[in-house]
Amino acid sequence: ARTAAVIPAAGRGVRLGPGAPKALRALSGTPMLIHAVRAMAASRAVSLVVVVAPPDGAAEVRSLLDAHALPERTDFLVVPGGQSRQESVKLGLDALPPGHDIVLVHDAARPLVPVDTVDAVIEAVRDGAPAVVPALPLADTVKQVEPAAVPGEPEPVVATPERALLRAVQTPQGFDRDTLLRAHETVTGEVTDDAGMVEQLGLTVVAVPGHEEAFKVTRPLDLVLAEAVLARRRL
Ligand code: CTP
Ligand code: MG
Repeated sequence: ARTAAVIPAAGRGVRLGPGAPKALRALSGTPMLIHAVRAMAASRAVSLVVVVAPPDGAAEVRSLLDAHALPERTDFLVVPGGQSRQESVKLGLDALPPGHDIVLVHDAARPLVPVDTVDAVIEAVRDGAPAVVPALPLADTVKQVEPAAVPGEPEPVVATPERALLRAVQTPQGFDRDTLLRAHETVTGEVTDDAGMVEQLGLTVVAVPGHEEAFKVTRPLDLVLAEAVLARRRL
């Protein structure tokens, strides 16, 4: 069972603040995207990585891949991305050559996911799940609110879902290839993750244990944490 990984890396990173597209920003001197590519290629099961670059940044991403040491056993493709994450993932899937029956979708913004987490996701797909997400219990209690029309105004709380039943979902998410392609062809409307599209097909998605280090670099404080994790790994 050969596995391909699609890495959506086309976002601007608005919440991170002004600067280069988020995936091209450096973490300990190496672009975030290169960390994410290495995290996928670290799995011996992954034979192809498709990077979905910022719309006008495909050439730059190609030269970054050529300039960094990456495993010989892995092939790399670069395609330009789109206006939404969903569109970018679809453009990556469109570039997949035949011959991979498992597909991972992994955010470039989660550069530090350990290989054991990647392998656990692949293993669960091999065991027969059409869609697999790495997930962690929540530290915070979560409230559903009536969103305020004006940001910053008080918001009425509507409900408090039982925290023990909730999980925060990470990537890589793993899929049976045909299931993921069908989901991206048939599901319309906004989704925030790929597994959600498979749920809309009426199929079962399973969660396996995620990892703290698979956190998403979203805001400036996350860069501080990512640098600290890398420093600890080098000790
Ligand atoms: N992504 C993408 N194409 C887009 C938007 C997002 O490939 N049009 C990718 C990002 O590059 C990132 C992943 O989807 O690797 C998760 O998205 P997010 O963390 O929201 O990144 P950005 O959209 O870049 O950040 P922001 O929402 O703060 O602008
Ligand atoms: Mg975004």
